[in-house]
Amino acid sequence: PDELSAGQALITAEKGIREAAVLLQAGETVAFPTETVYGLGADARSTKAVEAVFAAKGRPSDNPLIVHISDAAQLKGMVAEINDTVRALMNTFWPGPLTIVLPVVPQALSSRVTAGLDTVGVRMPDHPIALRLITEAGCPLAAPSANRSGRPSPTLAQHVLEDLEGRIGGILDGGPTGVGLESTVVQVGDDGTVTILRPGGVTAEQLATVARSVVLDPALADTHGQDADSLAPRSPGMKYTHYAPRGRLSVVQGPSSGEVTGWIRTALAEATARGERTAVLAFDDHAASYAGERVYTLGKLDALHEAAQRLYSVLRRCDEDGVTYILAEACPPKGLGDAVMNRLLKAAGHRIIRL
Ligand code: TXA
Ligand code: MG
Repeated sequence: PDELSAGQALITAEKGIREAAVLLQAGETVAFPTETVYGLGADARSTKAVEAVFAAKGRPSDNPLIVHISDAAQLKGMVAEINDTVRALMNTFWPGPLTIVLPVVPQALSSRVTAGLDTVGVRMPDHPIALRLITEAGCPLAAPSANRSGRPSPTLAQHVLEDLEGRIGGILDGGPTGVGLESTVVQVGDDGTVTILRPGGVTAEQLATVARSVVLDPALADTHGQDADSLAPRSPGMKYTHYAPRGRLSVVQGPSSGEVTGWIRTALAEATARGERTAVLAFDDHAASYAGERVYTLGKLDALHEAAQRLYSVLRRCDEDGVTYILAEACPPKGLGDAVMNRLLKAAGHRIIRL
């Protein structure tokens, strides 16, 4: 009986993929799961379809969309040049959470996808439903994260429904996404230098196994505690405040976990006394220090993929629970911690308390 129900589930998924592909071919938008977050897809060649994506999300039109492919052959006629480093990145990390910004062939895609830039960000998602959908639709899919602009990216079909119900053609439900944070966006120089424009599922350490030199876009320096306000980010999306919960969120960083937990406990008690509805985003390692508080756990500090998976749904929970004052423990910006801190700081409007 198990095999039978598994078989039936497969048939349902196949039917869903076919229906979704038909909608996409008709110029409609469809949300679909990827290994990072849910995307809101549209035929990247159709200006009308792409405009429907911007409209559904309420996204600023100067923020370009990522194009998703299921086969490297789709790059032919779409991007102008692929050097050895780019080829090596594709071979190593595709399918996977790496978006590569490449020179675009004029007219190959709707100019709305690239927001008028002469480059396009491309990735091959590592998710069976996404890959099948792209192949079945027979076109590259422009797909930003399937949230309303300014909301946390969706890691469940339910999150897409909350944000976009009635505004899009459909949603393919593939269950929870894997990575939980968006892809890493990189640009590769003529000399093979890989610049990280947005940290994500593929870490700097992983990129360095393939590329001779990996650097962070200076506009991302805030992840490491410097002031980046004066620098223009090369990835237009990085200039917007994203993922902000309605409550006031601050990130707390300190010399030792004891000092951080102690400071947070005091601050929460004071905020509660002022009449705030408080919460703390804490790693499992310290959760017990906050007995009696509203604690959202981010998993273990030495397993930051858990924090990545949970962060966006935790931020949504903050809103659902109506919390007004939120403190989050910082994590070391190494490995996936780079992407986790980047999103956490953006959600906090870069409010960081250094003890
Ligand atoms: O994991 C992901 O990347 C998800 C899933 C759905 O694939 N997509 C996603 O898309 O996060 P979106 O639109 O929310 O973020 C795209 C980011 C933005 O920061 C945008 O500015 C940047 O990629 N980007 C896109 N095209 C670019 C380009 N030509 N040059 C520089 N940055 C670009
Ligand atoms: Mg997004």
